[in-house]
Amino acid sequence: MSKITAAITAVGSYVPDFVLSNQVLETLVDTNDEWITTRTGIKERRLLKEEGQGTSFMAIKAAQNLLEKANLDPKDIDLVIMATATPDMPVASTGVYVATQIGATNAFAFDLQAACSSFLYGMSTASAYIASGKYKKVLLIGADKMSSIIDYTDRATCIIFGDGAGAVLFEPNTEGLGLQDEILKSDGIGREFLKIEAGGSILPPSEETVKNKQHFVFQDGKTVFKYAVSGMADVSEKIMQRNNLAHDDINWLVAHQANRRIIDATANRMELDESKVLINIQKYGNTTSATLPLLLSDFENQLKKGDNIIFAAFGGGFTWGAIYLKWAYTKK
Ligand code: UT7
Repeated sequence: MSKITAAITAVGSYVPDFVLSNQVLETLVDTNDEWITTRTGIKERRLLKEEGQGTSFMAIKAAQNLLEKANLDPKDIDLVIMATATPDMPVASTGVYVATQIGATNAFAFDLQAACSSFLYGMSTASAYIASGKYKKVLLIGADKMSSIIDYTDRATCIIFGDGAGAVLFEPNTEGLGLQDEILKSDGIGREFLKIEAGGSILPPSEETVKNKQHFVFQDGKTVFKYAVSGMADVSEKIMQRNNLAHDDINWLVAHQANRRIIDATANRMELDESKVLINIQKYGNTTSATLPLLLSDFENQLKKGDNIIFAAFGGGFTWGAIYLKWAYTKK
């Protein structure tokens, strides 16, 4: 029997309608369009403004978009993995709710949290379930409502993040397409530099923590930047070497959209031509778990069967890694 690999066979996405531009941010904090554009590459981001709605709202829409495009019966899905750093609630699981809402009544579901690397880690997890032969259809969703944990008076974070969702379907492949190799890393040294201090088991929410704004994201951007540049570039270079891939062999770099300069540094280390680097950070900012599937969705028409893609991400924790995947279809 030929080896089973896990291939991506469909993608879907959703972003909210509301646009927060750099120009509007100029009216909220001491910043300007020129600084944000040159330091991050971001021009605008989307925010979920629907009253009483959380991450699941966007995750459901992204999954429904995929189901419709792929003409897939949700009852055929075996597993739903919900990659997110902003679950609807700490308990119960967001993925379980999403699976039920989309009609994936035969699936089991769970949440996976690895900050901005959640989706990348989710690709590894989904792929392992498929390659084991246990499951045939695994839906991996990456969604985050970052606006729910951002302080819009903190210019160090509010200019970066946005809301969005993307979904991919993993299925078995016997032609050698799909996930080929992965390097996943983590290092607890990162805990101090990118965190939400309160609301967890160390510091449960209280009047005091809210007053101190400890339920918002704190980021020491400069330090995270340094680790992100070396971390993402190192694993991307290593996965190329270990698979004997020269820069000409790579068709696309699908990298976490946190900062244009981090993506460029990774692409430079890989000696990749700019035309092979997928970018949509200007439209959405950093959507955390949604950046990678939003890229696949935006650029799906350009991806061809057999294309060699390197995925790379870096996030809080720290968590980071790279995945080498062969694309499995050409969109008609
Ligand atoms: O996705 C999860 C992982 N996260 C990341 O990968 C994010 C990594 N970090 C970054 O992307 C960048 O560090 C930031 C975009 C957050 C900041 O860019 P930076 O080039 O590292 O800026 P900086 O913090 O070193 O600040 C440079 C200057 C400072 O002024 P002085 O001291 O040089 O006078 C800041 O006060 O820019 C100032 N500054 C700003 N100015 C206008 C900081 N934030 C802003 C702002 N608008 N929003």
